[in-house]
Amino acid sequence: MDTIILGIESSCDDTSAAVIRNGVLLSNVVASQAVHESYGGVVPELASRAHQQNIVPVVHEALKRAGVEKEQLSAIAFTRGPGLMGSLLVGVSFAKGLARSLNIPMIDVNHLQAHVLAHFVKESEEDTDQPKFPFLCLLVSGGNSQIILVKAYNDMEVIGQTIDDAAGEAIDKCSKVMGFGYPGGPIIDRLARQGNPKAFTFSKPHIPEYNYSFSGLKTSFLYSLRDWLKDDPNFIENHKEDLAASLEATVVDILMDKLRKASKALKIKEVAVAGGVSANTGLRNAFHDHAKRFGWKIYIPKFSFTTDNAAMIAITGHYKFQDKDFCSIDKPAYSRVTI
Ligand code: KG4
Repeated sequence: MDTIILGIESSCDDTSAAVIRNGVLLSNVVASQAVHESYGGVVPELASRAHQQNIVPVVHEALKRAGVEKEQLSAIAFTRGPGLMGSLLVGVSFAKGLARSLNIPMIDVNHLQAHVLAHFVKESEEDTDQPKFPFLCLLVSGGNSQIILVKAYNDMEVIGQTIDDAAGEAIDKCSKVMGFGYPGGPIIDRLARQGNPKAFTFSKPHIPEYNYSFSGLKTSFLYSLRDWLKDDPNFIENHKEDLAASLEATVVDILMDKLRKASKALKIKEVAVAGGVSANTGLRNAFHDHAKRFGWKIYIPKFSFTTDNAAMIAITGHYKFQDKDFCSIDKPAYSRVTI
């Protein structure tokens, strides 16, 4: 019998629903929220209101595009956390209510675990290029910077993580300081393509083991900029490409340095990247470079699976369904949790 999973994601500012049949993606609908742009960051109250408006049409559209009736669903998987509580509550409550009305299992999904398992979303039966266990996954987003040792679908260990800010947050903040739009990541990426990555140097952290720190880079960027602006009030406008390229190169170096150390020490050459920052061109180039230099087999997700999406929730639900790892209705959403 077919296993058909509806996945629902609402942890931050994207409302998404996806349908997966026997591990193959049938639909993945994402409604992003432009309302936050003018505030320079996600406004939690506005995010949960937008989720309320989007959730029904998004789920309806995902089922329609998949050609699946809700009565055919085997289970409903939903992001239980981590994320913004008001946002999570919309998806969690909707998923529980729908699963209960259809009398099918509900499956709670850890959003971070789902980012890693996004690598297992198949777009067709022939799609077999997936990481082999054990592999390392660099998870880099607006809220996380982690190195995860993935031993199985349901067995992951965080071996390194940021002790303060995430890589994406640091890029977004530096972009904001320069007066660019939100989110800064794609803007920095675009500008960096025309800049010199060696034009400026910013401080890099010395943190033990496989952990990261990005707050020092933020401060170094801010203080350097303040000094340069004293001499030249148009410094940012005159050097924006070089500033972006140098910032991006520093972040990528910090990320790859620890990942290389982990790969060497653990003797693992299957290496994946996940999360919103994995859309970054400099980081993707660094992965290709490492594949050539160190013989890594690399896994870089399609753009649509890097940012928040329900396909990754549905595929995680698929594997949890196989393990009969279901959730009871009394399990609440959680805003903070690790893998
Ligand atoms: O995983 P994600 O969509 O969700 C959150 O963590 O909220 O990641 C969002 C992060 C933001 O910091 C955004 O600026 C960053 O991913 N990002 C990028 C790029 N595209 C998105 N950073 C660098 N280069 C990009 N092309």
